[in-house]
Amino acid sequence: MAKTPCRLLLVTLLLAGCSSGASLGVTSQPAAETTPFSSPLPEAQPQPTPASQVPAPADCPATLTPAQMEGPYYTAGSPERPVLVEPGIPGEPLLVTGVVMNSNCEPIAGARVDFWQADGAGEYDNTGYQLRGHQFTGPDGSYHLETVIPGVYPGRTPHIHVKIFASDGRELLTTQLYLAGISEQIPDSLFNATLLARDEEPDPTGRRHSSFDFVVGE
Ligand SMILES: [Fe+2]
Repeated sequence: MAKTPCRLLLVTLLLAGCSSGASLGVTSQPAAETTPFSSPLPEAQPQPTPASQVPAPADCPATLTPAQMEGPYYTAGSPERPVLVEPGIPGEPLLVTGVVMNSNCEPIAGARVDFWQADGAGEYDNTGYQLRGHQFTGPDGSYHLETVIPGVYPGRTPHIHVKIFASDGRELLTTQLYLAGISEQIPDSLFNATLLARDEEPDPTGRRHSSFDFVVGE
């Protein structure tokens, strides 16, 4: 009589087997290897996908805006102001607009964007804050800069320096912007065409308008 139950249990008991002393009443594995039938496994809960792993939309630029050197003329503590133009500053008026976004093209609101540049004659103000200022991006990640077209200085084509900080103060990017149709004209080993601001239609006052969207890691 003992052989029949042993054969019936052979599939489920396998390693335990009748020879190990299993009786007809043995139906469970050692406690450490079992899951109580009274406590079914909880259903798997969907886990949020980190933003960095969310595929970017097809029309979203996949690459981060390249960094460039800060250079010797950065001064911390610039005033908060989107308009850097002041009476008497040489240079052709320039409007620069755009957004700051992450690599999924989600706008970054409240980012601090700090600009500094030379005037139209290629001169930096290294004692004060002329042509220096910071602003915070709006809810849509936008910024709006009113300035002048920077001039050339030895070895450099016209460019605008920029630093971008997260709302918690972390520095996200230091780079330089170049102006399409202008900055390509002068040899400069630092020039990077991917940092060219697009040439937009002039604004209603006839002012030159350029645009550039920054893509930064968070
Ligand atoms: Fe510079």
